[in-house]
Amino acid sequence: MNSKYLLLLLLCVTGLSVKAADPAAGKKLFQARCASCHNVNKKLTGPALAGVETRHSEEWIIRFVKASQSMVKAGDKEALAVYNANNQVAMPDHPDLSDDLIRDILAYVKEEAGKAPKDDAPFARPGQHQPNLMPLTIYNLPFMIAYIMLVIVMIILLIFLVNLKSYEKHIEEKKEP
Ligand code: HEC
Repeated sequence: MNSKYLLLLLLCVTGLSVKAADPAAGKKLFQARCASCHNVNKKLTGPALAGVETRHSEEWIIRFVKASQSMVKAGDKEALAVYNANNQVAMPDHPDLSDDLIRDILAYVKEEAGKAPKDDAPFARPGQHQPNLMPLTIYNLPFMIAYIMLVIVMIILLIFLVNLKSYEKHIEEKKEP
């Protein structure tokens, strides 16, 4: 390949990796700055953040994290709705967080959103518990078929054993003069 193109490709790749949000850094930031009020999958003082990127635009989230109350006071409809839905508990401003750092946090939230909270008891998500469970009733067709087959096999085995016994007897009787 032409070395010029190779250089261009290399630049693109490194450029991309510099720009991409970093969920590992986001995790650290989240734990230090947000976890006292937020969990990704559970509501604490603040709402669960899973799926937040589908509820608001990225640009809105960045503005909100930096200064939510000024948005509420300015009458931003989405901010007001969130504020009222959370008993009008105000979230502190984070003016020192850059846009990229907030994107890192969002990347972590996205990554974490699929996972279930680890400390939850199984009955906290009853629908997810034993998703392939098939109760053993007569309506459970695979089980019934297996059961009937087993019974048939056992009957055949029994008949075979009885026949074997009588055959042995027969031979023994023959031996006796
Ligand atoms: C002192 C508690 C507290 C801290 C710390 C905190 N938040 Fe919040 N957050 C809240 C509360 C309460 C709300 C909802 C009420 C409101 O509008 O202020 C909220 C709302 C949000 C929302 C809107 C959620 C939605 O579903 O619409 C986002 C996004 C958010 N916080 C992100 C963050 C991030 C990122 C951090 C860390 C940098 C953080 N918060 C730190 C309390 C907090």
